[in-house]
Amino acid sequence: GKGEYDHFMLKEIYEQPTSLAQAIEGRIDPEDGRIALEDFPPGTFEGVGNVQLIACGTSYHAALYGSLALNQAGIRATALLANEYSVTAPPVDDETLVIAVTQSGETADTLNALRQATAAGADTLTVTNVVGSTAAREADDTLFIRAGPEIGVAATKTFSSQAVMLTLLAQRIAADTCGESPADLTSLLPDLSRMPAQLESVLATDDAARIADRYRDSRSYFFIGRGLGYPVALEGALKFKEITYEHAEGFASGELKHGPLALVTPNTPVFAIFTGDEDEKTLKNAEEAQTRGAPVIAICPDDHRAVEVADQHIAIPATDSELAGLFANVQLQLVSYHAANQLDRPIDKPRNLAKSVTVE
Ligand code: F6R
Repeated sequence: GKGEYDHFMLKEIYEQPTSLAQAIEGRIDPEDGRIALEDFPPGTFEGVGNVQLIACGTSYHAALYGSLALNQAGIRATALLANEYSVTAPPVDDETLVIAVTQSGETADTLNALRQATAAGADTLTVTNVVGSTAAREADDTLFIRAGPEIGVAATKTFSSQAVMLTLLAQRIAADTCGESPADLTSLLPDLSRMPAQLESVLATDDAARIADRYRDSRSYFFIGRGLGYPVALEGALKFKEITYEHAEGFASGELKHGPLALVTPNTPVFAIFTGDEDEKTLKNAEEAQTRGAPVIAICPDDHRAVEVADQHIAIPATDSELAGLFANVQLQLVSYHAANQLDRPIDKPRNLAKSVTVE
């Protein structure tokens, strides 16, 4: 049951320190800088030349996060919407690895794309939460995210675990194909092992509830981020619209000036996510919105320069740029939750939505 929580969604948001600890348990060795993914020992991905990640909804945002982590690690990778794959799949060759990212392992669109990739001769892998699911049975290999059951229709803890497992997988693939892991694992892995405890402190703050209350009567809610902050901006907006029924959009920070700025008014708060990747540029993009009267809410560490510029601040711990967006995401989950709660929405079962979409 929900225990002390009013909603499964809130319970699942607060479970993230535990679900993440479970995800990485036995899979990283922070001291030696080693990653051990049970079915994928060193050498498994030798010969992989390109990666296609296929997924829908929130899992697509995790897939995008993973594709960017792969790109940063020097691997050719693209995230693709599974429901578009049948029409626009890029060519598959004998160096292609296709990764289906699906919490339930039962999403029809994702299963169709997986089957199409298999028929085209690709090696396939699924990153899923559900043991025995169709995706787990049909893919060549499976990486379980071990998040535990997720009851709330809005995916929360599974997104964090998907993104973390894809980050580790990216390093594993890079090590096999480039000979060595390009990221500084001696910084990433200790930061990752600190993440569950740091998440506990994030969850103990009331920043998100305060911000949700302050901007409750706005017309639209915008989310911007750059690099790994971009999928987090998309996910922040998806969660917000799903459970509050208010209009929300996520943009790459630099895209704001290419059109969306026309929508910006004092009635459209802009949540700006800072991950350490070209933060100066994101800050400039946020200031362009601020000049048009929009309140800017900076999501960044306490000592970040954006704090002075922004109208409001939501704190995240200082960490590796590969993980910062995941802390921001947890704060944004809380903003959405509190905003929806104030509006008295049926948070665990938003109208028109189902936990698992088994039709095309
Ligand atoms: C959003 C949400 C959906 C799912 C999507 C894919 O909160 O839950 O967007 O992420 O339907 O579901 P899975 O991951 O089960 O394939």
